Amino acid sequence: MELKADVGDGIDTWKEVTLIYNAALKQMETKMAILNEEFQHVHRYNPIEHIKARMKSPESIVKKLKRNGYESTIDNMVKHVNDIAGIRIICSFTSDIFTIAQMISEQQDIKVVAVKDYITYPKASGYKSYHMIVTVPVYLSNRTVDTKVEVQIRTVAMDFWASLEHKIHYKFEGDAPDHIKNGLIACARMVSDLDARMLSLNEEIIAISQAGEAEKENK
Ligand code: GTP
Ligand code: MG
Repeated sequence: MELKADVGDGIDTWKEVTLIYNAALKQMETKMAILNEEFQHVHRYNPIEHIKARMKSPESIVKKLKRNGYESTIDNMVKHVNDIAGIRIICSFTSDIFTIAQMISEQQDIKVVAVKDYITYPKASGYKSYHMIVTVPVYLSNRTVDTKVEVQIRTVAMDFWASLEHKIHYKFEGDAPDHIKNGLIACARMVSDLDARMLSLNEEIIAISQAGEAEKENK
């Protein structure tokens, strides 16, 4: 790891970077677990299926800085690498994605820095996901550091597609044969169709159970 020490947002050393971004990830994970529990309590269902959290490896950070024409300094990574800490939130239904994004943006101490809505506007590859770059405060003994976390929100089906696409992208170094690219695009359409059908089935189930409950109350 060849990172030159420099002053960036008061973070001076690689050890400090790791500590702070790890703390930010833990904060986000806890926040999401609390929101999920509260949602379960109020609405009687969990919008979140599961959560994956990861720290970007030092090698990937250096590679990304180089790719974008920056020198490998702590200052540059804090400023220009938005996904040092990343959390992926997997939910069941497309509607959950927007519910979760809304709950995140309404947290008082979270600031939303940027949003990319690849649900409404999927990538040409077929990639769908809702991305947010947020900052979360990390409380140290003598100061508070607002720390960036990349949040990706997607359904189980979108996650399944994205992992295969990622594997293929990696395998062919971004230049997969046309029939494979087209196959992936076709699968992306099926994923969207599946998500839409599952959502509408779920809505039907909810409507039926609500009607049942109302009937019970009226007896
Ligand atoms: P980087 O790829 O990290 O440089 O991101 P960016 O600044 O272009 O931002 P974007 O929000 O588009 O992508 C952030 C992350 O989303 C990526 O690092 C991937 O983890 C994921 N992602 C974006 N596009 C795709 C895609 O086409 N396929 C898959 N599998 N993942 C993607
Ligand atoms: Mg990334």
